[in-house]
Amino acid sequence: MKINEDIRSYGKENRVPITLDDTLIFLCDTINKYDCKTILEIGTAIGYGCITMANNTTCQHIDTLEIDENRYNIAVTNIKNERLDKKITTYLTDAMDYLKNCAKKYDLVYLDGAKGQYINYLPYIINLLNPNGIIIADNLHFHGMVTGEIPVSRGCRAMIKGLHRYIDAITTDTRLDTKILGIGDGVGISVLK
Ligand SMILES: C[S@@+](CC[C@H](N)C(=O)[O-])C[C@H]1O[C@@H](n2cnc3c(N)ncnc32)[C@H](O)[C@@H]1O
Repeated sequence: MKINEDIRSYGKENRVPITLDDTLIFLCDTINKYDCKTILEIGTAIGYGCITMANNTTCQHIDTLEIDENRYNIAVTNIKNERLDKKITTYLTDAMDYLKNCAKKYDLVYLDGAKGQYINYLPYIINLLNPNGIIIADNLHFHGMVTGEIPVSRGCRAMIKGLHRYIDAITTDTRLDTKILGIGDGVGISVLK
């Protein structure tokens, strides 16, 4: 897999959360396997994930959403430096505002923004998926706090509750065929039937 080591190192040094390698490999394999052409990423950070997807898959276009202006600006520069600015469009926005007003359809949505919000995004995401569209959601184990391996810290309670609600929703919604995988920090893949 082609990755940009400089962006990855910057993320580590500056404590910017970026997608783990195993998760990115799974994500890129899924995009290629299901021939996903249009992708929406929720949570750009500094562009590491979307640049990796653009460089390692046959997708045609990625829209990516970031609420933090500083990260957004760094992502825009990184994407330009990789000469991917025609293939990736970066939006400085709250994901919910984008989802509520989105008229586009996507083959795959990569959910990697505010974890406690996944459950609130879900109905909008289902509406903007093409037939057989896919949702991949990262951090469903959240360092073991969702699976009960480690205690839920006080500041994380609402988020972990939100993740449980998201997992319940994707595993019981009859429109979706869902698997929760132990890849990286826990990955959910839901395919619209
Ligand atoms: C885990 S990072 C994304 C990493 C990125 N997908 C990658 O692989 O490089 C999550 C990002 O979501 C952003 N975020 C959090 N809440 C958001 C919201 N409501 N709307 C858009 N982005 C949000 C954060 O600022 C953060 O940069």
